[in-house]
Amino acid sequence: MSEISLGSWLTYGGGVERERAEACVAKAFEVGINFIDTANVYSRGRAEEFLGEVLADRPRDSYVLATKLFWPMPDGGSGLSRDQVFTQIDASLRRLRTDFVDLYQCHRYDWDTPLEETMEALTEVVRQGKARYIGFSEWPAEKIREAQEMAGVERFVSSQPQYSMIWRGPERDVIPYSRDHGISQIVWSPLGQGILTGKYKPGEPLPEGSRATSESMGHFMQAARDQRLLERVQELAGVAAELGITPAQLALAWVLREPNVASAIIGASRPEQVEDNAGASGVELSDEVLRRIDEILDDSVAWEGPAS
Ligand SMILES: NC(=O)c1ccc[n+]([C@@H]2O[C@H](COP(=O)([O-])OP(=O)(O)OC[C@H]3O[C@@H](n4cnc5c(N)ncnc54)[C@H](OP(=O)(O)O)[C@@H]3O)[C@@H](O)[C@H]2O)c1
Repeated sequence: MSEISLGSWLTYGGGVERERAEACVAKAFEVGINFIDTANVYSRGRAEEFLGEVLADRPRDSYVLATKLFWPMPDGGSGLSRDQVFTQIDASLRRLRTDFVDLYQCHRYDWDTPLEETMEALTEVVRQGKARYIGFSEWPAEKIREAQEMAGVERFVSSQPQYSMIWRGPERDVIPYSRDHGISQIVWSPLGQGILTGKYKPGEPLPEGSRATSESMGHFMQAARDQRLLERVQELAGVAAELGITPAQLALAWVLREPNVASAIIGASRPEQVEDNAGASGVELSDEVLRRIDEILDDSVAWEGPAS
């Protein structure tokens, strides 16, 4: 499984036009990315449908496919009840045009369903061969522990938290627990939705065609207006230049320096971005560089825990 993976939140089947979306997936395969992340809820099923179409001609063993359930779907279903787990996995497999996903993830914790019910249903999905492994995203630490200690059910192998140079909450509890309990992180928004690429410049208008200016994709981009953060990111760009790498590669190498991170899930609206980001694989950062990054970012780093 590649340490840079391709995600499909907001972009494919959504805000990125079809031709460019197809070019991004093709570029991903070309540069060695074989891990693709999606969710039933992304673009209300259309991200999975898009992936089902573009992956249909590729051998099923040439990629690792992950999807998720939890958030409300157009059919009215949501959460992690037994009924929902069975309904949503079948709907995802239909859209993805495959008999199984490699990883089935609980997109959030469901406080309205007993954990045992969820774990038993997920276990059946694995035993039926519809998912190879199971994971979670942004679960509270005590529920992760409870799940891993439950007898007779499948164990989670992956955690999908937000993690980046500027969002380090998982270092507090999820990563330390995961290290000792067979769980790896596959992390989302490792580029801070593009902010860590350095393309949002302090004191300048938001760049045309970027996520922050997009009506359909720009809802969570407040940080693109944080002038102090943008100044600090420009300093990071200087560090990247000294190392002969791009700012995106610096940001991705930073998350991958953590041994518990198995993969950084990037988004991309253009094939050139896929290529740039894939170039982070194998980049090692020295302790001195890591120290400079911390000094530069200072109090622009957020330490919140999981969102649930
Ligand atoms: N589990 C969860 O709750 C959760 C939540 C969010 C995301 N995710 C997963 O994580 C994936 C990645 O999230 P994300 O899209 O926010 O990640 P990201 O990699 O931090 O941001 C991706 C965006 O940044 C811009 N970009 C990427 N590479 C660039 C480059 N080299 N140069 C310039 N701009 C670049 C592109 O936007 P523009 O070109 O449009 O500016 C791209 O769509 C999602 O697709 C999804 O699979 C999971």
